[in-house]
Amino acid sequence: MRLDWDRRARVDARYWVSATEEATQASYLDSAERDAAALIEGLPAPPSPEARVLDLGCGCGRLTAPLSARCPQIIGVDVSAEMIAQGRAIYGEGLDLRPCSGVDLAEFEAGAFDLVFSYSVFPHLPPEVAAAYFYEVGRVLRLGGLFRLQFWVGPAHRPAENDTLSIRVYTPQQLEDLAALGGLRVLGLEEIDYRDPILDLCPVWVNLERVDPLAPVAPLASRGAVGAPSDDERGLEYSLQMYLAMRQADRGEIHAAEATLSEAIQLAPDRLEAYVQWATHRIEAGDLMGALKLIRELNERNAAAPIGWIYRARLAEALDLDKEASRALARFHRLPQPPEDLAQEAASVAEALDSKPKTRRKLKRGKPSA
Ligand SMILES: C[S@@+](CC[C@H](N)C(=O)[O-])C[C@H]1O[C@@H](n2cnc3c(N)ncnc32)[C@H](O)[C@@H]1O
Repeated sequence: MRLDWDRRARVDARYWVSATEEATQASYLDSAERDAAALIEGLPAPPSPEARVLDLGCGCGRLTAPLSARCPQIIGVDVSAEMIAQGRAIYGEGLDLRPCSGVDLAEFEAGAFDLVFSYSVFPHLPPEVAAAYFYEVGRVLRLGGLFRLQFWVGPAHRPAENDTLSIRVYTPQQLEDLAALGGLRVLGLEEIDYRDPILDLCPVWVNLERVDPLAPVAPLASRGAVGAPSDDERGLEYSLQMYLAMRQADRGEIHAAEATLSEAIQLAPDRLEAYVQWATHRIEAGDLMGALKLIRELNERNAAAPIGWIYRARLAEALDLDKEASRALARFHRLPQPPEDLAQEAASVAEALDSKPKTRRKLKRGKPSA
């Protein structure tokens, strides 16, 4: 969890916490205002300025910051030290943001809070961590205290256990079972105005109240439980990074776009989209050698991708590295069933290579004698 979210935060914390379509600073701030307002409006009663509030999984403080104006005694905790560092850099010392273990709230005493809230955190948590946290939230809430969280309730949807990005959907019964761990009672659910096109479902805000004793045995979640990202998680993260890089490039932030593409490559080195996109930026900047180096790396990592060999041949030919270009074409032709459009491209590179010696011969013939 920590490594996953640190990695995401390193690229662009604001994008990864708000995931707005525009991926801009303005859309980040808009999302903060909208979500903080919905958080307050849905509470049974407005929180008093003395309320002790915990923002669980606060990221870089997107919601902690606007809520601190109403509830100065707010603390944000997050498993990602990188998110916390960036939040502190954005909002300064006035906002109390702290790294946490990612599985418990051991640093807080029982009954330390009147209100705990959590936005866009629990649906991404491995189920054993979600269970441990429901217990912990109940423990740190005073009796009568409230827990308000964003969640998905509907037909069960369970990505791989170690996935920290894909959305999990819990059934109403599973929500009740989780609530019981923390001695919490579900007060109600409100739909959030966003429909996920794949799940065909809207997320909900859930209000819970601490009314009962905690479960007799605390659920266990081991600290290092989550290892390498699952395949789905990697695929989802890769596409979100590609999307961010595209938006950055649209805004002319080529340096940032290339840094994002570099992170995407580290995440899935055998995928070609980030290499191709990055090489395209290099070509547009007139840096053909930079583009060729990237494509050479792609060839090493994914020798079966036909487009890699065509790009290599084209770039090498343009840089007059004719032997490299010919070898790349040969590798392309040895691939099983290379796509037709790329075969045409290969023919055009071959033609360009063929014409070179002739040009040189012509030049030699036409060279004036001394
Ligand atoms: C999509 S972001 C949302 C951040 C913030 N709640 C907001 O709405 O801006 C999810 C956040 O949950 C944090 N997170 C993930 N797993 C966590 C865990 N086990 N404990 C605490 N924070 C966690 C991540 O580091 C990340 O900052």
